[in-house]
Amino acid sequence: MQSQQSIGVFDSGVGGTSIWKEIVTLLPKESTIYLADSTNAPYGNKNEKQILELCIKNTEKLIALGAKIIVVACNTATTNAIDYLRATYPIPFIGIEPAIKPAALQSKHKSVGILATKGTLNSKLFNDTAARYTQDIAVVEIMGEGLVPLIEKGDLENPELVYLLKKYLAPMVDARIDYLVLGCSHYPYLIPLMRGLLPAHIQIIDSGEAVAKQTQHVLKSLDLIETNAHNPKHLLLTNGELDVLTYFIENFGESKNSKNLKMQIKREAF
Ligand code: DGL
Repeated sequence: MQSQQSIGVFDSGVGGTSIWKEIVTLLPKESTIYLADSTNAPYGNKNEKQILELCIKNTEKLIALGAKIIVVACNTATTNAIDYLRATYPIPFIGIEPAIKPAALQSKHKSVGILATKGTLNSKLFNDTAARYTQDIAVVEIMGEGLVPLIEKGDLENPELVYLLKKYLAPMVDARIDYLVLGCSHYPYLIPLMRGLLPAHIQIIDSGEAVAKQTQHVLKSLDLIETNAHNPKHLLLTNGELDVLTYFIENFGESKNSKNLKMQIKREAF
């Protein structure tokens, strides 16, 4: 493996672009390859074996395209498959898990909410972490049924999203949570809607920035970090709708600008 090779990133669809943006912002000299497996979204309702098979497919595609490290930008995929991937492929993997630990440690009300997919909330990895850090904390776990397919349509103003979020967030507000953990990489795109539905004191946390920092740390420790400004390139592939991936990539966030990046966004079967 060489430092000039790309950082590979995959998700069940466009949600992992929320992580990709953090990586590109923190590591501007790195080239990246992003796989949006939108055809198979949502992963959250699939069983462990199905999720694992999809992760293997995505991993082998990224390795074939020359990835030097793989960021599994999907909580559902990480919590169900990362141990297998790490044991099977000779390449480092970074995963994303719900930020339950910082939420539990910082909660003053001793009450936190977690919104995630069924696949994440049922996984052993998530339940082991939650058991370790939330012994003296009330945790309101809610499955975000239906949110990912709506986000995958690329319409973040769909009234159905507001309807579902109201339903999912109400029990958390009733339980007086002061931290809401977003346990799915699609959900950061719903923060503006959530903000309108939650009392202002509730902090919303996701793991995107922490994943980018961990990627940087691992690349440095393995001497795989790119130090030359060699004109980084970004290849973004979707097996779903090209327009939807393009929409999420171009809406890069207020403080971040994707316009100057050298990007190729393509539709391809994988
Ligand atoms: N973005 C994913 C996650 O972080 C998965 C959503 C899904 O495909 O169900 O969990």
